[in-house]
Amino acid sequence: MRAISRREVLAGTLALALATPARGDVEPSPAPALKTLAAQRGILYGSCAAYTQIAAEDDFTVLLARECGLIVPENEMKWAEMSPGAGLEDFRRPDQMVDFADAHGLHFRGHNMLWYWRTPSWFFELHDRKSSEQAILKRVDEMGRRYRGRIHSWDVVNEPLNPQDGRPDGLRKAVFLDAIGPDYLALAHHAARAADPAARLVVNEYDVEYDTPEQDDKRLASLHLIEAMKKAGTPVDAFGVQAHLSVDRLPFSARKLRRFLSEMADLEVAIQITELDVTDENAPAATSERDRLVADQYARFLEVALDEKAVKLLTCWGLSDRHSWIVRHETNDQKWRRDGLASRPLPFDDALMAKPAWAAIAEALKAAPPRDPG
Ligand code: XIL
Repeated sequence: MRAISRREVLAGTLALALATPARGDVEPSPAPALKTLAAQRGILYGSCAAYTQIAAEDDFTVLLARECGLIVPENEMKWAEMSPGAGLEDFRRPDQMVDFADAHGLHFRGHNMLWYWRTPSWFFELHDRKSSEQAILKRVDEMGRRYRGRIHSWDVVNEPLNPQDGRPDGLRKAVFLDAIGPDYLALAHHAARAADPAARLVVNEYDVEYDTPEQDDKRLASLHLIEAMKKAGTPVDAFGVQAHLSVDRLPFSARKLRRFLSEMADLEVAIQITELDVTDENAPAATSERDRLVADQYARFLEVALDEKAVKLLTCWGLSDRHSWIVRHETNDQKWRRDGLASRPLPFDDALMAKPAWAAIAEALKAAPPRDPG
């Protein structure tokens, strides 16, 4: 990978401002960039990115550096992606991504230390509690210490909750709970704090955005979890709202979302919007109509979310429709379009042209109350 220098980024931006946009060019998006509008409100704006994108696509990289103040690796830091066998870790991709961020003056979200869904298969074969505990501590300590001082925030445990599993504490009945019991969260958070005291430690969750009974339960469990962690003296700095949204999939209550964010803020944690995207599987085929509906969802969600001053960070799960997990049809098949058209969930299209979703984010940032960046 060749890092693009600041001079090249500036030169690229200037050239783009002069050029007529065509496929492959970056359309001069209405200045200023999202990161600038966000910073004016005390919010850090960013996107996920993948190593293959930053290594091979100069046009995309220029856009990324221009619009974002932070990146998060889409998959490169997940344990199962890094670990080819028991006790083995391959740090090359994570190293390259953190180096890229440093070279471009971008903040970095570490995603993630532990996630039941991307845990290496060898971990499941550890049969006693002691070995599981040691493996978790080694993982958290190695990640924390290796990138110490270079990480804005760490998702320590991704998606720890699933009230539908029926536990009173709402914890997900999955691999770490099975191996260690409910204390695994405290264990991981204490180790993460010791390994990198400056990184903000985040509990990152999905399905807390909409108005359904399941999401009511998830919101409640989230509040209880953060409250319990705080009470027990477990270090936790922020709650992450993933915000994988869809046009016309589930009912939305601005009131419930707003109340949830206030109650979370009352627990004295920051809130991060960590993986925002809006899929269009239920929208009609016409591009302009689809883009309008997607933009409406961004606007509706962000109007509520950014009103809460505890929200300090906004990250989209991708910047351009060229690179989205939903467009790539990797998982979550209920969010794929059935008519064969590529979905359009992100602020820029696949030719890197700003879409109505970009404008919706820009407007929401402009309307947001200013806050202390935290
Ligand atoms: C997704 C990636 O985008 C995909 O490329 C991968 O196949 C699966 O994981 N919640 C998370 C992210 O916390 O890590 C997930 O990312 C999307 C849902």
